[in-house]
Amino acid sequence: MLTLTTPLTRQAGIEVPLICGAMYPCTNPELVAAVSQAGGIGIVQPLSMVYVHGHDFREGLRLIRRLTARPIGMNVLIERSSRTYEERMRRWLDVALEEGVRFFVTSLGKPRWVVDRVAAAAGGGGVVYHDVTERRWAERALESGAHGLIAVNDRAGGHAGPESAEALMDQLGDLGKPVVCAGGVGDEQAFVAALRLGYAGVQMGTRFIATDECRVHADYKRRIVEAGEDDIVLTERVTGVPLAVLRTPYVERVGTRAGPLARWMLRGRRTKYLMRTIYGLRYVRKLKRAVRGGGGSRDYWQAGKSVAGIRAVEPAGAIVRRCREAVQAAR
Ligand SMILES: Cc1cc2nc3c(=O)[nH]c(=O)nc-3n(C[C@H](O)[C@H](O)[C@H](O)COP(=O)(O)O)c2cc1C
Repeated sequence: MLTLTTPLTRQAGIEVPLICGAMYPCTNPELVAAVSQAGGIGIVQPLSMVYVHGHDFREGLRLIRRLTARPIGMNVLIERSSRTYEERMRRWLDVALEEGVRFFVTSLGKPRWVVDRVAAAAGGGGVVYHDVTERRWAERALESGAHGLIAVNDRAGGHAGPESAEALMDQLGDLGKPVVCAGGVGDEQAFVAALRLGYAGVQMGTRFIATDECRVHADYKRRIVEAGEDDIVLTERVTGVPLAVLRTPYVERVGTRAGPLARWMLRGRRTKYLMRTIYGLRYVRKLKRAVRGGGGSRDYWQAGKSVAGIRAVEPAGAIVRRCREAVQAAR
């Protein structure tokens, strides 16, 4: 029997097992608040909050609090290539904990320091889910104390994984922790299908870009609504690893493979860290333009194959409501 109550809803204190995934540069406070207010949970992306949408981090969290009293989450990117970046992330985590955030989604690396910090500050009440694309990363995350897994599949927007949603469930289902499906879910039928596979919830990204509350350029939203699966390509040119983006004339012109120098540097033991830092800086700058500029000839618009199920720009709460009703109807 399908039910709205899952290990995810219990741990996060929410009503609908639906996460609005962190999205650089698309996550803004109003979007996070709208999803949480409707019964799912919105995840704050700190870089997006501060560098793209111009909020002081603590003030941004307080803005969300004025819009909803319901639980929200925060994305902690465990990127070790830059000390400055790591220290900044630690400060943001502390601010989030002070402001009452209790649900965290970690990406990259080992989440141990986040798990420990959250446990110390939240008196055992905090929860950390880690993004994974394969079983070996899942095992590492669980060794580090993660409470759940977000299984990023080959249809996801952002950094897609190599495996299908079905294959990931087979790989991760016996690890004894809740597994959330991330990738390819753009409508309520796909939401129900993911829960039927045994997932404890769904993390959607692309679907929430095409909403009234998301503050990206109108052209970007329109392209998501119009696009089909074949309009999504994986490019290495932004971050050095495959990133799902909309096929635009610019993407077609420059191609999707990293340049020869970048590829050589990414292979070297020492040079790879430098290259990742360079990519990190470029990523922050290049992707930010999708929000402010919009439609510029050199923009990258991230989106996943879930575009196929997205038919209109609508309020974020309507998407959460339809997912809730679809599960209730499927009982
Ligand atoms: C525009 C965009 C930006 C993203 N940025 C991040 C990010 O900063 N951190 C992160 O953990 N995941 C990021 N993701 C992944 C999403 O949180 C989510 O896992 C993914 O979008 C799910 O696939 P879907 O787009 O098919 O729904 C991003 C996805 C998109 C589409």
